[in-house]
Amino acid sequence: MHNFLPVAYFQNQFVPFAEANISIATHALHYGTGAFGGLRGLLDPQNPQQVLLFRLDRHCQRLSNSAKFLHYDLPVDKTHEIIVDFVKKNQPNTPFYIRPFVYTSDLGIAPRLHKVEKNFLIYGLELGDYLPTDGVSCRISSWYRQEDRSLPLRGKISGAYITSSLAKTEAVESGFDEAILMNSQGKVSEASGMNIFLVRNGKLIAPGFDQDILEGITRDSILTIADDLGIPVQQRAVDKSELYIADEVFLSGTAARITPVKRIENYELPQSNPITEKLKEKLTAITENREPSYRDWIYSISVE
Ligand SMILES: Cc1ncc(COP(=O)(O)O)c(C=O)c1O
Repeated sequence: MHNFLPVAYFQNQFVPFAEANISIATHALHYGTGAFGGLRGLLDPQNPQQVLLFRLDRHCQRLSNSAKFLHYDLPVDKTHEIIVDFVKKNQPNTPFYIRPFVYTSDLGIAPRLHKVEKNFLIYGLELGDYLPTDGVSCRISSWYRQEDRSLPLRGKISGAYITSSLAKTEAVESGFDEAILMNSQGKVSEASGMNIFLVRNGKLIAPGFDQDILEGITRDSILTIADDLGIPVQQRAVDKSELYIADEVFLSGTAARITPVKRIENYELPQSNPITEKLKEKLTAITENREPSYRDWIYSISVE
């Protein structure tokens, strides 16, 4: 059971969460014609009167791009402003997650994006750890990541998450924590809701933008941090067999943050994860606003 934040943004106004309801005939519910975002908010450990949002600008930008694929104009500054107001209205006092959502709100049938009413809503929920923080086991999914020629992979399009759901359930029902999906070229793409990284011989390796990945904001942050820490980085196609012999593998995402991978299929990975740990420590410090040189990644909101 989730604890939802008390106030939602729905039909252009702030209303109690319990009153923000949609019809069973809502177009997006049937066709997956929505797009969402996901941001974490936390209380500043140095000053709990301040809520910290990580890379709010980037999240608003990605949502605006996702909305374009739905033929909906969602200006970046408008979303930014509404999210800040949303946090102020909710006055959260625990770590939480913000879920903005753009969707075809029309009540009608026929899958299409033109001449269909659209809407934008936001709700929030308390959120702790999404995956076990000490590490996860992963199955190589029998489901493949979609291709950009059939679906805009740079948007977080609701309908795309059928593949994530199939992969996650397949993994969990066969005794693993998470799924790793290959792309149609047979290369490593990402997990069900996270990007993937490997470490081999001291180098940090991530499947590139040409590997059908979601352009993860945590992924982008990790690549920047690694560069700043002097860790050599490669973005390139990754073969499945590289995962099995990697020195370290980890997953990254807003919900999962940095989660080490302990086992992939029947291959145990080494127990020590020095680079993963170093990156995780730095990312945590940045999100908690303890790293002055990354302050521009943090948006601080007063909730007194
Ligand atoms: C499919 C998928 N890949 C990767 C990610 C990681 O992206 P981010 O770091 O922006 O949360 C997410 C989560 O948003 C996702 O849903």
